[in-house]
Amino acid sequence: MNDKHVMELTREVRFSLVDAESGTKPLNSWAGWPASVRLAPYLVLRVTVVGEVDARTGYLCNIVTLDRAVRDVAIPLMLKSHRQSNNQDSTHEAMLQKVVAPLESVMPDGVELIRLELRVTPFLAYTWRKDILNMVQVTQSFEFAAAHRLHCAELSDDENRRIFGKCTNPNGHGHNYVVEVTVGGEPDAQSGTVLEVDRLERVVKERVIDVFDHKHLNLDCAEFADLNPSVENITRVIWNRLEGAFDPVSLKKVRVYETPKTYAEFSG
Ligand code: NI
Repeated sequence: MNDKHVMELTREVRFSLVDAESGTKPLNSWAGWPASVRLAPYLVLRVTVVGEVDARTGYLCNIVTLDRAVRDVAIPLMLKSHRQSNNQDSTHEAMLQKVVAPLESVMPDGVELIRLELRVTPFLAYTWRKDILNMVQVTQSFEFAAAHRLHCAELSDDENRRIFGKCTNPNGHGHNYVVEVTVGGEPDAQSGTVLEVDRLERVVKERVIDVFDHKHLNLDCAEFADLNPSVENITRVIWNRLEGAFDPVSLKKVRVYETPKTYAEFSG
């Protein structure tokens, strides 16, 4: 590393996968452009670049340049991929990987593309990262509702109240936990996918959701009989339940939101 400061910049482009008149100015890029005039896939592409910030403008890269790269280069390629009849070329993984090199080729001097995240639904995302070139990471989110009580048996009631506050209520309290599971690997040459989404869903449902959903974690789940079900420990337990379950595809990350404001993440 040299001593110059390196900054990351991410631009999110929202669009419907439809033919758009080239050259037309986006009318409402906040809601997505091209707009979904008729039923069409609505996608989000997050482009992350790294580089040095220009001292005069304060810019790493003009976001107009990133928007134009996505709209002129990436979207037409994705549309083409979407319309491919053969499976391997129309997967989300293929759609993502096919736009990497063309986008790299239109980056301005000194600006390096390091990450692309394609969100195909609000709950399913595909990520390419420059440091793990040929891999694609797949992240899907899940939800379960459960009760828990934060409490350490070896501490006095006063100590428990001091540390855990209302979370140590003897009869527990509940959360709607959101679990984000990320797996990664090279897309299979035959299927074009890293992991079939239905297998990802089935494994997480069987090993995590069915086990914890509508349960009292301390009372109903053996793992928490002697382990405080903090969001950190829940994350670790879920990681243990999923590690190895997607072989030969590896588990990369588990993130658990206890509330929209609090989450823990574990990457092994
Ligand atoms: Ni709680």
